[in-house]
Amino acid sequence: MPSNNSLIRHRNRQRRKQLTALQQSNHAATLGTQVCRQTAFLRSNRIACYLANDGEIDPEDIVKTAWKLRKQVYLPVLSPFQSKLYFAPYSAGMDMTINRFGIHEPACRPLHWICAWQLDLMLLPLVAFDENGNRLGMGGGFYDRSLAYRRSRTHSKPTLIGLAHELQREDELTMNSWDIPLDMIATEQRVIRTSR
Ligand SMILES: Nc1ncnc2c1ncn2[C@@H]1O[C@H](COP(=O)(O)OP(=O)(O)OP(=O)(O)O)[C@@H](O)[C@H]1O
Ligand SMILES: [Mg+2]
Repeated sequence: MPSNNSLIRHRNRQRRKQLTALQQSNHAATLGTQVCRQTAFLRSNRIACYLANDGEIDPEDIVKTAWKLRKQVYLPVLSPFQSKLYFAPYSAGMDMTINRFGIHEPACRPLHWICAWQLDLMLLPLVAFDENGNRLGMGGGFYDRSLAYRRSRTHSKPTLIGLAHELQREDELTMNSWDIPLDMIATEQRVIRTSR
């Protein structure tokens, strides 16, 4: 029988995929305005983002603002040898490749990749969130593995902001020992600061 988290993943992915193109672009625009006003954004220089996929809320406006402010934007890249993420510098119009999950990544030599702890701010996609900062992703554990060091360190770079449509909110998610909670969640309606 599928677990509760599998059911939530299935339901929330369906929900966000049913948003119209107009709703998606309205949500993305409002989210962009809200996130770019946050101190956590303004004071960060190295910012990881993602390319929206599967109905995820689109951080494109945040990326454009970050470029204008001369911040360095990064996109996640899959390590070929480990099931974790590194982060490759991303600039407008650069060459991209497609990884083993069909997701675009900057075509950039591993020499230029950085690790999660070298970022100031990470904007994460998610499938479901709750107001305590608990996050359910697509189920690969890639973000959790890449941030696992945060469980044992008091030093907690980068700031983690989950980006979502408000309709992805759950009352309370059941989390596992390996799940890394978020510092903030931003939706098209509000910015939530968790107690982390
Ligand atoms: N730090 C870790 N070390 C080893 N395995 C891990 C770690 N974190 C997560 N995993 C494994 O990854 C699998 C998926 O984790 P989970 O269901 O939390 O994914 P998710 O949070 O939805 O995905 P993602 O982190 O990519 O957004 C689990 O089976 C778990 O055992
Ligand atoms: Mg997880």
